[in-house]
Amino acid sequence: MTERRKIIIDTDPGQDDAVAILLALASPELEVLGITAVAGNVPLALTETNARKICELAGKTDTKVFAGAIRPMVRDLVTAEYVHGKTGLDGPDLPPPSMPLQPQHAVDFIVETLRNADVNEVTLCVLGPMTNIALALNRAPDILPKVAEIVAMGGGLFEGGNTTPAAEFNIYVDPHAADVVFRCGRPITLLPLDLTHKCLTTRARVDAFRALGTRVGDATAALLDFFERFDEAKYGTDGGPLHDPNVIAWLLRPDLYQGRHINVEVETMSELTIGMTVADWWGVTDRSANVNYLRDVDDDGFYALLLERLARL
Ligand code: BDR
Ligand code: CA
Repeated sequence: MTERRKIIIDTDPGQDDAVAILLALASPELEVLGITAVAGNVPLALTETNARKICELAGKTDTKVFAGAIRPMVRDLVTAEYVHGKTGLDGPDLPPPSMPLQPQHAVDFIVETLRNADVNEVTLCVLGPMTNIALALNRAPDILPKVAEIVAMGGGLFEGGNTTPAAEFNIYVDPHAADVVFRCGRPITLLPLDLTHKCLTTRARVDAFRALGTRVGDATAALLDFFERFDEAKYGTDGGPLHDPNVIAWLLRPDLYQGRHINVEVETMSELTIGMTVADWWGVTDRSANVNYLRDVDDDGFYALLLERLARL
């Protein structure tokens, strides 16, 4: 096999984060150096616990899980129990994890790992508010050249926001962190709502996970059943958007995705539009392109990949 791509998954699980973690752990092309938890969908004590529950579900108990920031850089923490349930991982009945939480702080782990890496060696997969990543970049700018790419779920243009009319949840929760990341100068690939809203968890797709007849298949179906109910009611669709696994799927099958290199900046000042990703899709400014903004996806191909990989666990 060719060399595995080294990744760090920064995450706030979250049912869709959980499916993204399962996809990564099931994929031999990827080497998961560590999973760094951040406060987001639910508080940090739950997101780090949930990350360990998912590693155990995948049977990958040697995965290193770290706890990071307990709150955004500037603003108060906003959580989303109304979407994800009280635990953040409502749906399946998963036992409390017995694998340990690593003693090192997530931000220290990110800094140390990148300092020890070669130039362009580590890809940062960001599935939640960008607090841990921004803190690491602010603390140790010398790590920047080691970052091959930052691949993140967040933002939106054509779909508007899902937390305010202007802002998507991950960017809304820590817009100041997102601002640091978008300005960092390294390659960034963004998977916004414009794309993830095309990946609906239809009944047939959820049933296909259940039909695997495995513990992971059952748990995935239960996660998605719970997760979709909020957006189904909101959008009136068969199933809800599945966001975060697209970050991992893009690493595995970039051919499923299409987008443009454009300028994206984050609103941090206006209370009305804070957390908005101001994405210059039509090139109406001369601001330089800093983001590979993915807008389209082969959604059947995405779900086929997910099913095939989760069947391996
Ligand atoms: C994003 O917000 C969270 O609720 C999901 O886990 C995803 O990362 C979607 O807006
Ligand atoms: Ca998430």
